[in-house]
Amino acid sequence: MDPKRWKILDSIFHYMWKYEYIPSDLISKHSKIGLEKVEIILRDLSDKKLVLNKRLNYFGSSFTFKGLSLYSLWRLAEKDEVEMLGKLMGEGKESTVYNCISRYGESVIKFHRLGHPAFKKVREKRDYGTFHFSVLSVRSAKNEFQALNRLYGIVRTPRPLSWEGNAVLMELIDAKELFKVRLSNPEYVLNLIIDEVKEMYKAGIIHGDLSQYNVLVSEEGVWLIDFPQFVDANSENAENYLLRDLNNIIKYFKKNYGIEKNIENVLEYVKSEKD
Ligand SMILES: Nc1ncnc2c1ncn2[C@@H]1O[C@H](COP(=O)(O)OP(=O)(O)O)[C@@H](O)[C@H]1O
Ligand SMILES: [Mg+2]
Repeated sequence: MDPKRWKILDSIFHYMWKYEYIPSDLISKHSKIGLEKVEIILRDLSDKKLVLNKRLNYFGSSFTFKGLSLYSLWRLAEKDEVEMLGKLMGEGKESTVYNCISRYGESVIKFHRLGHPAFKKVREKRDYGTFHFSVLSVRSAKNEFQALNRLYGIVRTPRPLSWEGNAVLMELIDAKELFKVRLSNPEYVLNLIIDEVKEMYKAGIIHGDLSQYNVLVSEEGVWLIDFPQFVDANSENAENYLLRDLNNIIKYFKKNYGIEKNIENVLEYVKSEKD
């Protein structure tokens, strides 16, 4: 893409906090590109599905998921963080995750996608309000990057590497989601997970969406992933979130491995100072 296009995407990013559809005259001013040219480029970007244009009482544009993700990737590339995008690793309920080569070696790039029409249910569950998806997605990426920075080294999470827009660059974990594996030592793994929840709680954080889908397992142990909705352990409903996280995991091990654990005891253990 020629530099003018990046400048225009840059202007959309700059104003997206204020406008759902950013007026083309503001884009023109910010990018220092004439209005007529801006509108021609915006139409072309719309043909490429990178922006969505709308004629209100003005000509306005907003990002599509593809546009925001490509723009965020470009920013990571400009910083020399990401060198090459690799294979699609998975489409989670609120993200698209790719393998990539970064300056740190083989890594993962997670493009956040919040509040997309097709993801309505999730939006209600995670309650981010009614902002435009691009604002929600960037906020979600920021939250995840912050949570990983607070937790990495204390809890087994991927190492956070960088963040731009809706993209979080992190360490690639060579492991599978808990729900995809048949464990030979389920009780041991369950205890590992509970211990991670305990360490996380000590660090003042509750995962908020812990389940068999957000735990990765390999011969080397367990990792917790997927943190955008993390909850502060001091917040009002903290205990409910903690209880729900633990319940999800305990239920999974009961259903799949017949392991009985008393949720009250586990909760007490997680909240206690004892190891
Ligand atoms: N750091 C990572 N290393 C390896 N795989 C990952 C990593 N982060 C995410 N994934 C894969 O991508 C999927 C979706 O990521 P996740 O963070 O759970 O987002 P979502 O909110 O979309 O569920 C995960 O279930 C996992 O398979
Ligand atoms: Mg997930």
